[in-house]
Amino acid sequence: MKSEVGTSLCRKQSLIEDARKEKEVSELSATEPIVTCDHPDDGSSTLNLMFTIRNASASSLSSSLKILEKHGTIIYHIETRPAGRGKKKGEELECFVKGFINNSSICSLLSSLKKVAGDVKIVKELTAPSFPRKVQDLDMCQNLNVKFEPNFDKDHPGFGDKEYKKRRVYFAELAFKYKDGNVIPRIEYTPEEIATWRQVYKSLSSLYPNYACKQYLDSFRQLEEYCGYTENSIPQLQDVSIFLRERTGFKLRPAAGLLSARDFLACLAFRVFPSTQYLRHPSAVMHSPEPDCCHELLGHIPMLADRDFAQFSQDIGLESLGASDEDIEKLSTLYWFTIEFGLCKQNGSIKAYGAGLLSSYGELSYALSNKPEVKPFDPEVTAIQSYQDNSFQPVYFVSESFEDSKAKLRQYAVKMKKPFYLRYDPFTCSVEILDSFQKVRTALCQIKDELSSLCSALDNMY
Ligand SMILES: [Fe+2]
Repeated sequence: MKSEVGTSLCRKQSLIEDARKEKEVSELSATEPIVTCDHPDDGSSTLNLMFTIRNASASSLSSSLKILEKHGTIIYHIETRPAGRGKKKGEELECFVKGFINNSSICSLLSSLKKVAGDVKIVKELTAPSFPRKVQDLDMCQNLNVKFEPNFDKDHPGFGDKEYKKRRVYFAELAFKYKDGNVIPRIEYTPEEIATWRQVYKSLSSLYPNYACKQYLDSFRQLEEYCGYTENSIPQLQDVSIFLRERTGFKLRPAAGLLSARDFLACLAFRVFPSTQYLRHPSAVMHSPEPDCCHELLGHIPMLADRDFAQFSQDIGLESLGASDEDIEKLSTLYWFTIEFGLCKQNGSIKAYGAGLLSSYGELSYALSNKPEVKPFDPEVTAIQSYQDNSFQPVYFVSESFEDSKAKLRQYAVKMKKPFYLRYDPFTCSVEILDSFQKVRTALCQIKDELSSLCSALDNMY
């Protein structure tokens, strides 16, 4: 079964696919030698070495260090800690050495060291991919996946339409020129574009009263009142961005198209939602192979005006910063089955909150019929669920509430292997790595002050 308005299907399919591609590239590079030649000029390499001293004494440690010295290792970091298990506990010492060594000496070093120490191995350092630290850094996180664009996808309805492609170039240039803090350019939409919007708007808005969750309906009413949501005009991103900022602190930035998974999720971490401004091709009003502003404005925006949903979205984004490629794929899948295709319980019935559903005439009613399989939202299960790229989803996940989903996501995130803990600072719209007692203490003091104010306010009520 094909989705009648399948915009986000393709978008989020790509998000997961994109994450998988990154992981594959990473796995390929992981097959390379762990010792990398950092200094090809003199043939030396960075060495991260671990070994165990069986008899935890100064002389045993000294023997190992002498071997390192003999092989010309320049040591600039060394750590030891008790090793061993059971009866041997405390008898062994685990050592980590970081330094430089000439490539030609590595084999000989390992061989000599194995004579006096156990478990000799070269280890890969646990490092995290780089990520934006402040909202302005998102200007550099606009990598596009152009697979579904009219210039590259032969199946795109606008593939042979020169005028449409010219119009898309105009929108792309606006997005590329945009910098954080700029006013989002207002678009003078053509009568044909408005006609496309009208058809999509009328079809979908007739379904919302029966299928959309309460939060969506509340926000949609406000958007009609304050942001020009009508069938006869396409809302301007700048107006919508101001609306969202006043309610949840989220803001929009124009996107030239489909962003890479890592870049898209990073934007969410800073309460920024990348939004396209162009319309789908007029020959396929009820189907688009890529995201367009109908999908963004009707699918995503109303839910981003809800505080709990906004926090849930930001939490997924924050977990993505510095995450491994494997975890980016899992987070993209979680995003797909919640923010794009999520269902929630409400007053004894099930409603839709996912943008992919709320911008898809066909799938919205299908997801809420008794035909598909429905499971409770559980990040462990949801993160590895397979998805459908050219038909309706095989399964949908139901959240008890956004509060409950947030708590489950945070529990799940604890298991992700990241070498640091991050904290978002809403005053500076930046993230801080909590890697010192002082930073944690400062953060706790801020929370303590806020808690104190709230307790005083509560006391005042009685
Ligand atoms: Fe979407």
